[in-house]
Amino acid sequence: MGAAHFAAAGLAAGLAFSASTAMAAGDLNLICSADVVICEQMKDMFEKENPIKVNMVRLSSGETYAKIRVEARNPKTDVWWAGTGDPHLQAASENLTLEYKSPMLDQLQDWAKKQAESSGYKTVGVYAGALGWGYNTEIFKTKGYKEPKCWADLLDPSFKGEIQMANPNSSGTAYTALASLVQIMGEDKAFEYLGKLNANISQYTKSGSAPVKAAARGETAIGIVFMHDAVSQTAEGFPIKSIAPCEGTGYEIGSMSIVKGARNLENAKIWYDWALKADVQSHMKDAKSFQLPSNKSAEIPKEAPKFEDIKLIDYDFKTYGDPEKRKELLGRWDTQIGAKAN
Ligand code: F6P
Repeated sequence: MGAAHFAAAGLAAGLAFSASTAMAAGDLNLICSADVVICEQMKDMFEKENPIKVNMVRLSSGETYAKIRVEARNPKTDVWWAGTGDPHLQAASENLTLEYKSPMLDQLQDWAKKQAESSGYKTVGVYAGALGWGYNTEIFKTKGYKEPKCWADLLDPSFKGEIQMANPNSSGTAYTALASLVQIMGEDKAFEYLGKLNANISQYTKSGSAPVKAAARGETAIGIVFMHDAVSQTAEGFPIKSIAPCEGTGYEIGSMSIVKGARNLENAKIWYDWALKADVQSHMKDAKSFQLPSNKSAEIPKEAPKFEDIKLIDYDFKTYGDPEKRKELLGRWDTQIGAKAN
């Protein structure tokens, strides 16, 4: 094979590269609101496939929303990938994020497309996951605890100081818990419930998955988290069993948005389209991220909690992603629960 062949092949490859990565060079400032392991994996995969350097930080969903809001006049972030849908919807209503109709939309599940449509295409679904909890089976055995199958069981006085959940201001997981309980019980009853639950909570963490990581390490017995985060601890070899609450539960549509005023807009769109691809989403399980992917052709991990086995509520994303509602619920949580935390 001669030099001419190599030159021709190189030229062809170069042409293909420049066509598919028009304007693609430089940086992309990304906030990732999923688990740090999948955040790193996504960054590495993207950088291998694109000549773009990703400056990535991991922040919880509520924290990211707050940062984007504070920086609205001088945005430092281009893309917000992952994290629960409610704060993405809030950012969309407050015009903090940009309308973008990805050519990938047709490949997505209806729930992911609906998330895009309802926000005026300012956000889109990237995965879905149901809320529940994980408990440490060894601690349960040693202490003789009974398996909590229902939200009501978590109020058992024997669990005093044995439960962790996140703070709904910083964490999308915990906000999903708060909004789900309000939808299941009604607002006053839900706050009554959370007030009683507070007696059993040892800590409100910043990140949503921290409680079940603490349970995996034996630092607490129960962590209220998305079920896929409990499953990933089991997959890591920890004695964690995950539970779907008997009364029913809420779920998230993990989302992605481009920040309005993004300095690297072309690169942001390249990431956005790329992150919606089936093969990219199929790799999420390699990082033990077991959510349901939004691309219809992506592989559903065998570990992913099955929605058909879970009593899911018809979570009202429009209402609970609305800025007024979120502000109201978080304010009430701060005064009635957070201020009285142990
Ligand atoms: O760990 C993954 C995950 O549970 C995602 O499914 C979810 O969108 C995100 O974390 C929520 O994180 P946080 O509760 O810290 O905002």
